[in-house]
Amino acid sequence: MSVLNGKKILLGVSGGIAAYKTASLVRLFIKAGAHVQVIMTPASKDFVTPLTLSTLSKNPVHSSFFNQDDEDAVWNNHVDLALWADLMLIAPATSNTLSKMTTGNSDNLLVATYLSAKCPVYFAPAMDLDMYKHPSVLASFNALKSFGNIMIPAESGELASGLSGEGRMAEPENIIAFLEADLESKLPLKGKKILITAGPTYEAIDPVRFIGNHSSGKMGFDLANEAANLGAQVILVAGPTHYKAKNNLVEVIGVVSAQEMYDVCHEHFKDVDVAIAAAAVADYRPKVVATQKIKKAADEFSIELEKTKDILASLGAIKKNQFLIGFALETENEIENAKLKIQKKNLDLIVLNSLQDEGAGFKKETNKVTFIDQNFKIEPMELKSKESVAVDILNKVVSHFVKL
Ligand code: CTP
Repeated sequence: MSVLNGKKILLGVSGGIAAYKTASLVRLFIKAGAHVQVIMTPASKDFVTPLTLSTLSKNPVHSSFFNQDDEDAVWNNHVDLALWADLMLIAPATSNTLSKMTTGNSDNLLVATYLSAKCPVYFAPAMDLDMYKHPSVLASFNALKSFGNIMIPAESGELASGLSGEGRMAEPENIIAFLEADLESKLPLKGKKILITAGPTYEAIDPVRFIGNHSSGKMGFDLANEAANLGAQVILVAGPTHYKAKNNLVEVIGVVSAQEMYDVCHEHFKDVDVAIAAAAVADYRPKVVATQKIKKAADEFSIELEKTKDILASLGAIKKNQFLIGFALETENEIENAKLKIQKKNLDLIVLNSLQDEGAGFKKETNKVTFIDQNFKIEPMELKSKESVAVDILNKVVSHFVKL
């Protein structure tokens, strides 16, 4: 999945021949899953039509401060547009527009919006080779870079003038690749490896029966997807569940029993920076697993159970620098029990679920959790979707690394 998926992109098109390439650019953004709004300078409309870009972006194109053809002229609020965006890209960026951006000459909607933008701004220059090297243009590049804007350098090749050299706007595919690489390199969990357990475990009684529980695995899969969205490489050790990972940075290793989950976790734990135990691991398993199906005979029947290994506690016992997060599902004395688990399992953070809270627990789309850290700082959270709880948990992971 592209890092551009779900991103809100404001594309500013200025008036150069390369504007015709923005049709492909918008199409590629949409294909990557981004939401696109386009602002055009008046001059750019001679090179590509607003209708083309509005059709491809699936949004009206903005080009003036208000619609002159409309009797009830509607003000195009450049501040709202700028605040909407996760990133702004000026492509093609002509020398005229670049110069206005450096001096703050906001005589068109594009530059006014640029001046209001708080998001990262990229610009892809396009001009003839001598213009591209002119000191005044180089001064614009430097000024914009000093403002924190990011330049996507022009490429070499045949130019509209018939001359050949540097100045062509980067090809749309290359602009996309540039943006993806830049955004990925800035993701807060880039380079981090995270182990996550999810779902129930099934403990065999005989070849056809098992002891299991109602865990759906959703919380663990949401955590894995969110961690991958933040750039982490994720190993998700999942008990039986129908969920699939949405992000290809998530490696799913399917297991069935608590012992298999234990073995896989121990194989990977030494290589990870973070481990999050979201699985509902069976605490007991049949002491003896029948090799044949158990036939119905006596009126009463009992199975002798033995304890499974506590995966989380075993990881806590050997942890070095890993940031270790566990869950606690409690029905009474919640805070006290959760604190005991932090100590017993040597955790950095526990995510407490109380079944007394409505909307929390198994088979629900929502969760209501309380964070308790190693110093017993207690932070109750609102009832929210499991995706949002996953975001909150990963924020804790991100702030742990920021503090280091
Ligand atoms: N856990 C684990 N391995 C087990 C049991 C639990 O890794 N064999 C992990 C769970 O994934 C969870 C945490 O331990 O992160 C706490 O699970 P919970 O069921 O609340 O607590 P238990 O330690 O099993 O204690 P109890 O059931 O007595 O409350």
